[in-house]
Amino acid sequence: MPRGRLISFEGIDGSGKSTQAEQIELYLRGKGFEVKLFREPGGTPLGEAVREILLSPRGSDIAMDGLSEYLLFAASRAELTGKVIKPLLDRSCTVLLDRYGDSSLAYQGYGRGVDIDIIRRVNRLATGGLKPDLTVLLDLDPDTALSRINRASDRIEQYGADFFRKVREGYLTLAEAEPDRFRVVDASLDVDVITGQILMHIESLFNQDGITI
Ligand SMILES: Nc1ncnc2c1ncn2[C@@H]1O[C@H](COP(=O)(O)OP(=O)(O)O)[C@@H](O)[C@H]1O
Ligand SMILES: [Mg+2]
Repeated sequence: MPRGRLISFEGIDGSGKSTQAEQIELYLRGKGFEVKLFREPGGTPLGEAVREILLSPRGSDIAMDGLSEYLLFAASRAELTGKVIKPLLDRSCTVLLDRYGDSSLAYQGYGRGVDIDIIRRVNRLATGGLKPDLTVLLDLDPDTALSRINRASDRIEQYGADFFRKVREGYLTLAEAEPDRFRVVDASLDVDVITGQILMHIESLFNQDGITI
C-alpha cells in the first residue's frame, strides 16, 4: 500500500478552507477512504493550548512580535507532524490539513515581515522536511473574505484588510514558485463548484498511485 497523501488547504481567513476541507473529508470517507482532518494550530493538546494563545481575542492583550508569533505556530506544527500526521501517513491514511507551513510564510512572513528564510528553515525543522503532496489555495479578495466572517474576529483577523492584502499576495507568490504542488482555486465561486474543482485535483493526485476515486 502506498504512503498516505497529505493535502493542505490554504488561504486568508474567510476564504472557505474549513468549509472545503470538511466537504472533501466527507466525500472521501463516503468513498471508503480512511481520512483525517486537522486544523492548525491544533490537533494535539499542545496545539489546542497554543491555539488559545494565538487566536483567542483575549490573546490580543498579549503583545507578540511576528517572530514570537511564528515560533508558537511552529511548536504546534512540530507536535502535530511528529505525533499525529507522520504515523497516519505511514499507515496509508489520507491527511487533510486546514492550514500548514505555507500559512506561516504568508501570514508571519509576507504579512508581518518575519524573514522568509528563517520561516522556511524552522518549518523544515518542525515538519522534519514533510511537505504536502497537494496544496489547495483558496484565493479571494480580502474584503469579500472578511465580510463572510459573521462571528467575533479572532486575534489575527483583527490585523485588518491591508494585512490580508499582503497575505493574499504572499500566497500567490508561493503558488507561482511551486506550481507542481499548489492548485489555485477561485474562492468566490459557489461552495459546490469549488469542491468539484478540488476533487479533480485530488483525483489526479490519487491517479499517480493508481487509485481511482
Ligand atoms: N464559496 C463560498 N461562497 C460563499 N460563502 C462561503 C463560501 N465558502 C465558505 N463560505 C462561508 O464563509 C464563511 C467562512 O468560511 P470558512 O470555511 O470558515 O473559511 P476559513 O476556514 O477559510 O476561514 C462561512 O460562514 C462559510 O459558510
Ligand atoms: Mg477555518
